[in-house]
This record gives sequence, C-alpha cells and structure tokens, in this order.
Amino acid sequence: MLLEVRALDVTYGATRAVRGLDLTVEAGEIVTVLGANGAGKSSLLRAVQGLVRPASGAILFNGESVAGSSAASRVSRGLVLVPEGRQIFTSLTVHDNLLMGAYSRRDDPTREIDHIYQRFPNLARRRDMFASVLSGGEQQMLAIGRALLSRPKLMMLDEPSLGLSPLLVRALFDLIGELNRDGLSMLLVEQNTQMALQCAHRAYVLELGRLAMSGPAADILGDPRIAAAYLGSSERRH
Ligand SMILES: Nc1ncnc2c1ncn2[C@@H]1O[C@H](COP(=O)(O)OP(=O)(O)OP(=O)(O)O)[C@@H](O)[C@H]1O
Ligand SMILES: [Mg+2]
Repeated sequence: MLLEVRALDVTYGATRAVRGLDLTVEAGEIVTVLGANGAGKSSLLRAVQGLVRPASGAILFNGESVAGSSAASRVSRGLVLVPEGRQIFTSLTVHDNLLMGAYSRRDDPTREIDHIYQRFPNLARRRDMFASVLSGGEQQMLAIGRALLSRPKLMMLDEPSLGLSPLLVRALFDLIGELNRDGLSMLLVEQNTQMALQCAHRAYVLELGRLAMSGPAADILGDPRIAAAYLGSSERRH
C-alpha cells in the first residue's frame, strides 16, 4: 500500500470538512476523488501533504505514519501536491520555477529539467520568460513539471483541468495517463467527472466530508447515483 488514510477528520473551527474518511492508493494506481463544491476534497489532499493538521485519524505513506512531519519533508519522501490554482511563482522565470521544484534534492537536476522541456516544448521556448506570461494550460504544465522534479512516488493533483480549454484538458489527461504508465501513482481530484473516471483505476465520491461511494472507476462511471452526488455542483465558486 502506497498511501493509507484511516478514519481521517479535518476540521476548521466548527466546520467538519472531512469526516472519518478511509482511503487507499496502491502503487501504480490512479485514484480519483470526486464530490461537489465543499465536499472536502482539497482538505483531504492538504492533510496528506501536511499543509493542514488533521483533527484525528492516521495517514501512512509506504507503511509509515507521516504524522508530525512537515510538508517539505513529505515532498522529500515522495509525496507531492499540485494545488488548486497552480501556485507557480509568477515573478520567476519558467526555468527558475523548475529549479524550485528540485530544491529538496542534492543532485544535479539538469537532465530531468531537459526531460521536462522535451515533454513540454512550450515551456522550453519560454524558459527565460516570467511565468506570468504563460497561458493557463502552460502554467498547469509548469506546475506539474515542477512537481515531477521532486521525483514523487505519489503525485496529488487538485482540479488540474480547471479553466483549461477542451483541447488542453485532453492533453492534460493524456499526460496523466502517460506519467502513470511510467510508474507514477496519482491521487486526482476533479470536477471533470467523466474524464477523471475514464483515466482512473478506482474512485471515491465524497459528500459533505463523508464517503458516499467508492469502487472501480468503471463501476462508478456506470452508476446512476453518480448524478445525484453532483446535484448543485455545476455552480462553481471559483
Ligand atoms: N481554511 C479554511 N477555513 C475554514 N473553512 C474551510 C477552509 N478550507 C475549507 N473550508 C471549508 O471546509 C469545507 C471543505 O472544503 P474543501 O475546500 O476541502 O472542499 P472541496 O471539495 O475542495 O471544494 P471545491 O470543489 O470547491 O474545491 C467547506 O465547507 C469549506 O468552506
Ligand atoms: Mg477544492
């Protein structure tokens, strides 16, 4: 088991964002987490990365508890989150953003940065430009490229397709599949239910912080109740 979340509770004051959640990711899997706005998806990812401290429950990575370790040390252990809204450094160049992704490493990242440039030629062409000039899709590729430079074992993506054109959404999901075939495990939060279920192995559906449904992605895709879980989710806060 690569990631094991047991009886996780995340609270913000009186708000119970995640309630008693059990979730696992096996090595080699793409697992998707679905749910309407406010269901607790981002809170789950932030707790796993160490950006928010759970009220209770356990998080094990490679069989070891991550409790008490910082987000940075979880990155060194192979756990990386590409947060909602990308959060790249817009006042740095594309190249410097990539270098930031390799900060936790002691070796020379040049070869891997070259590999990212081969994978994302648009980034190579703009390597010395400020990241602020990139399009939304290019910023998402940069955020993923930066995350890859930390050599993750598990990459968590929080709504990576948000705001992308249909063509770029397709390219993004192609990339997710390709990275997974190269051996990267993924925990993918998406509101693009269809695409997420088509590329994932397994899925969890959250409702108000609780697990509403889970199983093989193909089963969830064909489940008529999935529509019910999304009532009201079309009106985005973002
Ligand atoms: N920093 C915070 N302080 C207080 N409440 C928060 C905070 N972050 C999230 N919440 C609340 O916790 C609940 C779950 O939020 P979360 O962001 O995890 O949901 P989500 O499923 O990611 O939603 P979305 O699809 O809108 O991104 C919501 O009720 C939200 O308002
Ligand atoms: Mg969210």
